[in-house]
Amino acid sequence: MIASDILKKILLIFIYTIAFAFKQGILQTSPQIMKTLTITRPDDWHVHVRNSAILKTVLPHTARQFARAIIMPNLKPPVTTVDQALTYRDEILAAVPMGVDFTPLMTLYLTAATTEADIKKAAESEYIHAFKLYPAGATTHSDLGVADIVAAYPLFAAMEKHQIPLLIHGEVTDADCDIFDRERMFIDRYLTNIIKHFPDLRVVLEHVTTAEAVQFVESTSTNVAATITPQHLLYNRNALFVGGIRPHHYCLPVLKREQHRLALVKAATSGNPKFFLGTDSAPHLTNLKESSCGCAGCFSAPIALELYAEAFEAANALDKLEGFASFYGADFYRLPRNTDTITLEKTSWDVAASYGDNGISITPLKANETICWQVQ
Ligand code: DOR
Ligand code: ZN
Repeated sequence: MIASDILKKILLIFIYTIAFAFKQGILQTSPQIMKTLTITRPDDWHVHVRNSAILKTVLPHTARQFARAIIMPNLKPPVTTVDQALTYRDEILAAVPMGVDFTPLMTLYLTAATTEADIKKAAESEYIHAFKLYPAGATTHSDLGVADIVAAYPLFAAMEKHQIPLLIHGEVTDADCDIFDRERMFIDRYLTNIIKHFPDLRVVLEHVTTAEAVQFVESTSTNVAATITPQHLLYNRNALFVGGIRPHHYCLPVLKREQHRLALVKAATSGNPKFFLGTDSAPHLTNLKESSCGCAGCFSAPIALELYAEAFEAANALDKLEGFASFYGADFYRLPRNTDTITLEKTSWDVAASYGDNGISITPLKANETICWQVQ
């Protein structure tokens, strides 16, 4: 009698556990069993949506998946003032499809002309969420970025005082520094000192690509975090040269060795809240990428969450996707977590060859390839 009661209880606990695991999307013994994954709606903490016609082409893809996104300010000319950011914000909102709920979180581009008053004004605006530091010459439209990082220390002090985060493209720009060492060298030469001088400054090391960057972020205070892109989780540098040069795999910081990719996957799937989702989706016209001097940037927005799901599934860590995609970034930026949900389905589908019309063609990451997850 007692034995059968115990048996009944054990059976009930077993059934509840299995049901709970299915509900959370944790159970993943085989693709046949696990068909869908529902998580809190995510945010993209690093995206380029450009302006004008390209904005209209790309923004709906980000808005379809993400509730909010940190909008990069490297337009030409860059977004350097609160007023410019508000105008840009209106242009973005006008490109959001009807019925879609999407909030752009604006950032300002740091230049030699930025003042402490600019920082105070930005921090007081409910629409501006960070400053972006591009070392001058490091990447697309960075020519007006910061050439002398130490000279910008008074600005970092103002950001620390007014509690507005500093987002960093962490690469040195010396022409004689090997391209694969630029992130590591930036950390050694600049970031370590910045963190030391401004311990209360919240810093995001954007799109980390190396084991050294992961180790650095892990070893610092909770004021230091990092975003990780889908391409750096899925590819190593061999992907740039599979059967020929692959311009749509070229972004900055450039893809690194497999050992670095593995370190990024480990960090992203660790449940450590210092690492969160930032696609760095960076659209360029197809002809400007497939060129003798192709632009840097992977356009991942149409399949962003699907790519992260693929990477997390490959690491057997789908249960860690929600924290990475939907919680840790919001917590870092001191914004409320989203309350609605998004569902991914395990199903194969072919990614389009390109996006855009009326003379616009933008080739996405994985163009013409079959992927295995799809946002419903
Ligand atoms: O690959 C990149 N593209 N990296 C960046 O830092 C900038 C971005 C862009 O704006 O095209
Ligand atoms: Zn970027």
